[in-house]
Amino acid sequence: RLRSVTAEQILDSRGHPTLQVQVVTDDGASFSGSAPAGASTGDHEARELRDGGSDFGGRGVTNAVTLVADQVEPLLTGTKWVTLDDIDGALYRLDGTGRFAKIGANTAVAVSIACARAFAHQQRIPLHEWISDQLGTTPVMPVPHFNVVNGGAHAANGLAFQEFLVAPTGARDISDAVQMGAEIYAALEAELRSRFGSLGVGDEGGFAPDTDDENQVLDTIMRSIERAGLTPGLNVRLALDAAANSFYDGKYYRLHGRWRSADDLLARYVDLAANYPIWSIEDPFDESDRNAWHDIMDRLGDRVQILGDDIFVTDAARIRAGAKEEIANAALIKPNQIGTVTQTFEALRTAREVGFRTMISHRSGETLDTFIADLAVGAGTGQIKAGAPARGERVAKYNRLTRLHKLYPQLGYAQWWTD
Ligand code: PGA
Ligand code: ZN
Repeated sequence: RLRSVTAEQILDSRGHPTLQVQVVTDDGASFSGSAPAGASTGDHEARELRDGGSDFGGRGVTNAVTLVADQVEPLLTGTKWVTLDDIDGALYRLDGTGRFAKIGANTAVAVSIACARAFAHQQRIPLHEWISDQLGTTPVMPVPHFNVVNGGAHAANGLAFQEFLVAPTGARDISDAVQMGAEIYAALEAELRSRFGSLGVGDEGGFAPDTDDENQVLDTIMRSIERAGLTPGLNVRLALDAAANSFYDGKYYRLHGRWRSADDLLARYVDLAANYPIWSIEDPFDESDRNAWHDIMDRLGDRVQILGDDIFVTDAARIRAGAKEEIANAALIKPNQIGTVTQTFEALRTAREVGFRTMISHRSGETLDTFIADLAVGAGTGQIKAGAPARGERVAKYNRLTRLHKLYPQLGYAQWWTD
């Protein structure tokens, strides 16, 4: 039973308002959840509820705070809830639009996460264990994918691709992986500073060098990995999130100041995958350009993880359709893209059914909420991305993983890369 459900407006990592929800259970314990926000969003993501108007450029969430007090709290208190399904279903019906256009996915996800924590508490088990019980999975520590160079919609440089990530696949455990990430990040900073002088960072804490050349970035990352005493392709692999929606005009892709066909872009990916230990490419093409997705699966799908983010938006039905069309072999999972933890579980179950890998993900606008760390462990996905190994809202997730490793040393480090 819930005694109260309250919400407040806080700031996210971009300085934009977002929602933090607190639920108090009848034994007096209190649990919170907060909503992250994307910048490069898919067209079919669940909707956010924002105030509009002039305050915070229209991004305020005071209407959502009021809605929690007026509608969500009366709905959720006074009933004995048996499962999170029931609560999330009640939110879904209260909204009534199927995509949270009325109450907002930001409202839904914050409430849902807080309630998930309450259920784990009620059963006196750790959150990741409660998640693995719900999903019937074996918990495992995920391989962190550190976003070390930012471009696209997340940085003010000329890089078309949004994210260049390093994944310490050969780490002994999560602490070792985090150390490897931090040491690569430090080496990369030194490399980039000596080449570019002044150096900005993007929304997810990765560096934003003033270049539009992916090869230059990847070469520098390779050197930094070596400088950190590691071996690219052996214990550290690379990944990309092109987030191609953001450089597509409906027909062509903008790369290096020129418009290119999907075939040209595909040739670019094939070339990059041949020259660097890139094991995963996310959103290589626009979400509407499904033929191009099919082509990259033909060319690279047997060697490279083709990971759908904006194209699947954590939606079980879209993941199922994508598997049928053979346009990807993996799905990115972001709870706020779909709205509730229950729907996130459905996406994870469906992905498993159709043989897709999954990667749990943060958003570019984040809070200190660490739910996705526990989700990655509990769902046993073996992969998480939560930004650079720097900046409070990013390291909160990695530090949470390290903490879980200390508390539950029996959790192994994901071993999927041994091929
Ligand atoms: P977003 O970026 O949170 O701005 O959508 C993250 C991603 O594209 O993976
Ligand atoms: Zn993405």
